[in-house]
Parts: sequence; structure tokens; C-alpha cells
Amino acid sequence: MVDWNTIREDFPILKEVVYLDSAATCLTPIPVLDAVREYYIRYRANVHRGAHRLSVKASDKYDEARARVARFIGADDPVEIIFTKNTTDGLNMAANGLRLRSGDKVVLTSLEHHSNLMPWQVLHHRHNVDLAFLETDEQGSFDLEKAAEVIDEKTAVVSIAHGSNVLGSICPVNEIAKLAHDAGALVCVDAAQTVGHLPVDVDELGVDIMSFSGHKGPLGPTGIGVLYVRGEHLEKLNPVALGGGTVKDVESGGFTLLGPPDRFEAGTPNIGGAIGLGAAVEYVSRIGIQNIEQRERNLLTTMLNGLLDIDNLIVYGPKDLELKTGVMSFNVKGINPHDVAIILDEMDAIAVRSGHHCAIPLVKRLGAPDGTVRASLGCYNNEEDVDTFLSRVADVAQGLT
Ligand code: ALA
Repeated sequence: MVDWNTIREDFPILKEVVYLDSAATCLTPIPVLDAVREYYIRYRANVHRGAHRLSVKASDKYDEARARVARFIGADDPVEIIFTKNTTDGLNMAANGLRLRSGDKVVLTSLEHHSNLMPWQVLHHRHNVDLAFLETDEQGSFDLEKAAEVIDEKTAVVSIAHGSNVLGSICPVNEIAKLAHDAGALVCVDAAQTVGHLPVDVDELGVDIMSFSGHKGPLGPTGIGVLYVRGEHLEKLNPVALGGGTVKDVESGGFTLLGPPDRFEAGTPNIGGAIGLGAAVEYVSRIGIQNIEQRERNLLTTMLNGLLDIDNLIVYGPKDLELKTGVMSFNVKGINPHDVAIILDEMDAIAVRSGHHCAIPLVKRLGAPDGTVRASLGCYNNEEDVDTFLSRVADVAQGLT
């Protein structure tokens, strides 16, 4: 049994706010901050560039963090883990590094947030790469028969979000991956909203490339992310940034690159961030990812049922909780979502996100051009947080503010 009250103590800020904005960024527990602090205080040095003891220790800890992350997502080998800044950085590295050519096709979904849309749009405009979309309904569900028609032999990459950051819907990645692999395409997954919230195993999902941030579900620091690339595809990816740490040899006329992952991590990396992320995935693993998934699903059940009972609301996304992460979007009829967020903050220090959530095409399709109010859960939330939120949303919806 997990003692969730003790877990909550690791997030002191929860004494001051009702934090329901974990889809934007999760809170960071004290043991993770301690690991980062220890690096800065006790062995602050660069990695893979020094023979002195501090550099050796920092390098060991950095490499250990990579191995921990590999285990956490079921990767076969730590070389498949490239440290990035965040999900967006990793998706840009994939789009720009895969050497796609005119006539290649990239298949996306109509749910994508900007980071899994704009880098591919640039390939379309600059290199004549074709873009096609798997349409979903308003619940975020896919028609797999239609998907099979869109994913054809011209498809080079299918790039999809595992969890929608607006609807909370979970994409059937492994079914889409089968269609993609049958067509000879690579599967790239934006797992920003799922890693750390539910079990994510790269083999079970059948992904070839996967990008996620450290600061969301994994409970790590900001500024560190991961691009997973399956070993057999590492050579297909060009590094998009070159410089210190990426080369075996350099002459005035050219260079020989190191192998992966170093060739993809130009310049001094975010060492403290990576060490923090290593500590964070250990923290999440100690709680147990299944326990976290169940905890968030229990809270989501209360939240969804509570919102559906309030008059004057529009609630978006799936109502079947098996198909959903702890992300809830809604609107109060007649009130701008930003105003709702400000009122909730002023009433009871309730933190939610409002607006388009970096997914403008999706919110327009929902008929919500000003966006939505989004409440999103972390494993550190409790029933009291959800009850406070529901009672204040009910007040706003009834005009009692
Ligand atoms: N993509 C992040 C969000 O949904 C920042 O809030």
C-alpha cells in the first residue's frame, strides 16, 4: 500500500495551492531536488571531458541516469536514450534528422499539439514532404479502418501523441504502430502526457522513436527531456546540432562522429537535469507506475463525475475512463476560459491551465476558439483537492463569484 499522505509531504508547495496543472508541468519531489543539489554542491564538473575525480563522478552519475531512464521505458540499451531539452526538442530532432525527401509522407493525427505538427509542416513547405492526418472524433477516438487507408506505402513516418494534452484521450499506439510497420513506416510517439502517469514500454507500444519531457510525469527538473530511438534506427537519424562532445576526430576539412548517443548531445549537456531525471524515475518506480495510474484514475473518476453533474458546463473528451489520462478540459458556458482560471486562482489558489494548450487546430475543431479550462492531475493530488476544485467550479458555473 502506498502512503499517499507521506508522498504528498515531498511536495511542500501543496500546502499553499490546489495544484491541477500537471499536464503543463508536474511538481518535483524533495528527493529529486536533493539529487540535483548534491551534484551542484559535491561533484560539480563537466562530463566526458575530464580526468579529475569530480568529472569522473559526474560522468558516472550522468551515465547512470541514462541507464535508469532506459530501464524505466523498457529500452534495450542506454545508447537508445538521447538527452534533450524537452519533448519539443526531441520531436524537432526527429523531424529534422530523419532525412525525409520530396514525396515521402508523414502521417499525424488531428489531435497533435504544435510540437508534433509544426516541425513536420516545415518539412512539407521546404522539402515537399506530404502530410496526412488521421482524423479523430470529438472524444479523441480513431477509426482504425480509415487509418489503414491513410497509412500507405509512401508513408515514411507516423508521428502521434500517446495522450492528448487537451482531451486526455489515449491513442491506440500499438494498433497504429502495426499498420505503420506493415507499410514500412517508422513510428514516432509524443509521450509527453503519458510517461510517468501510466506504464509506457517502448516494446509493448511498438515505437521506433519516442520523445518526452523530464518535468512532467517523470517528476524531474525542467530543461531535460529524452528522445528514445530504437537501436536499429539510430543510424537513420542525422544529428541536427554538432560540436563539442560529438566527435571522434576533426580535421580542417571534416570530422568523424562518435557513436550514439554522444553524437546527438552537442555541447555541455544539462548534467544536473539528467541526474535529477535519473533520481526522478527511481522515485516514480519506488511508488510503482501501476499505483500511480490507479491513483490518478480514481481521482479522475471523482473529477469527471463531479463535472458532469454541474449545470452550465461543456465537458470535452472521452467519458470512458479506461481511454483517458488525468487531463480534463471543460468550459463554463458564456465565460472565457482565462477568466475561469483567474477566478479559481483568486477563490482558493486553484491552479489550472486555460486557453488553447498549444493545440490550436484541436480546440478550434472542438468549437472552442478561446480554448478550454484544463484541470490535470498528478499522483500527489488527493480527493480534497478534487472536491475543492469541483465546489469552486460549481460556484463559477452558478455565478456565485
Ligand atoms: N504542452 C504542455 C501543456 O499541455 C505545455 O500544457
